[in-house]
Amino acid sequence: MHPSTEPIIAVRGLRHTYGEGAFVREVLHGIDVDLRAGEIAIIMGHSGSGKTTFLTLVSALRAVQTGSVRVAGQELHGATDAALTTARREIGFIFQKHNLIGALTARQNVQMAVLIDRPADSAAAADALLAQVGLRGHEHKRPRELSGGQQQRVAIARALARRPRVIMADEPTASLDAQTGREIIDFIQSLARTEGCAVMIVTHDSRILDVADRILTLDDGRMIETDAIFERLADELAELFAGLPQVFAYFPEDGPPRLAEYQPLRRQFAAATEALNKRASDHVRLRLKPEAAHRADALQQMLAAVRSLEALLCEFAGHLRSAPPDLQRGTGHSLQLALETVLLTAADALRTRDPEDIDLLARIASDRSEAMKRLRDAPSLRPGTTSASDAAWHDALFALTNDFARLIHLHGQIAHFLTEMRRR
Ligand SMILES: Nc1ncnc2c1ncn2[C@@H]1O[C@H](COP(=O)(O)OP(=O)(O)O)[C@@H](O)[C@H]1O
Ligand SMILES: [Mg+2]
Repeated sequence: MHPSTEPIIAVRGLRHTYGEGAFVREVLHGIDVDLRAGEIAIIMGHSGSGKTTFLTLVSALRAVQTGSVRVAGQELHGATDAALTTARREIGFIFQKHNLIGALTARQNVQMAVLIDRPADSAAAADALLAQVGLRGHEHKRPRELSGGQQQRVAIARALARRPRVIMADEPTASLDAQTGREIIDFIQSLARTEGCAVMIVTHDSRILDVADRILTLDDGRMIETDAIFERLADELAELFAGLPQVFAYFPEDGPPRLAEYQPLRRQFAAATEALNKRASDHVRLRLKPEAAHRADALQQMLAAVRSLEALLCEFAGHLRSAPPDLQRGTGHSLQLALETVLLTAADALRTRDPEDIDLLARIASDRSEAMKRLRDAPSLRPGTTSASDAAWHDALFALTNDFARLIHLHGQIAHFLTEMRRR
């Protein structure tokens, strides 16, 4: 399911105050934010920053005082009770404490939410929902007979009862251990992907940030959106890149290339870079912020460079191993060492994205490409021979230096795009 570009939730100039007269206090100072189908937004912010206030306003659980909140096209500000009820049907709410009714079984708790729409087959519908959250066989248990994670799953099943287009979760992992919290979050994420729901999760838990398409922070009554997504995509790219020097291990000096072993790695690499590419382009399509588009563009070009680099690295290693032995031991070996140094420098620059590291990469790439030009312009003789007529030897040298020059060029591009990614 692809995120669409039409926001399912659109918030404009949202303000909210508590108290009256001398005690009046504004906790939200004008918030603008959109959320689209299939998108997962995580809302962070210290305790008391207004996260719950915001979530309940957008969920039609609290009256909008100032500003506009549209849910699936319905304006909540000044809406009639009937309109609010309709809007609430689009939203599944998951609370920190699951708010299950202790006297009722899991099935009955979910049935409560199903009853209104499907009175005839509510039990069967509830069981289907429980099965969807992995609770088949637990239908007859009461909340106290279930673990914390299972209770939260019942709450999710209940929130899903009306096939909401939006899921709002307020600290859904707060009362769960780390592993159960992770399972619940992964489950919510898969729902967002398969059902195309928009999801807002309020959390303090920085361990679950990786599921977010967007990271929003409430600070002093204002919503700030970080470009954290790019940092994460870049971190993942750096991790992939760090594996590239291993390519040489699959082209040993003393044996045939271990291509059969390398193929699966290569496929993984291609799939991972493709996934990163898609996430970057989704982000641009959804954000439409010019500076985000610029950074995503740089990231995507860098991905393209890294992919070419992987292919070219294999080509180089293949040419090196099929070169005459004296060429392998001489110039070929020097080129390999030089490449390994550049690869490590690039891995550092990708990981830290520190201007100094990027600059070092740019300089090494430019030095090496100069050196390569000199090497290729100089008439080269095969050592121990008197003429330049050993055609096979020269072809092999040409192939190696050609690969090398292109590899260095790609490193220069990576340095360039890393710099572009830093620009805002
Ligand atoms: N019903 C209320 N009446 C008065 N003040 C409230 C009410 N609910 C929340 N507040 C205050 O509004 C601020 C934001 O609260 P809340 O939205 O619950 O923050 P968060 O969920 O980020 O911890 C806090 O200072 C809180 O004390
Ligand atoms: Mg709260």
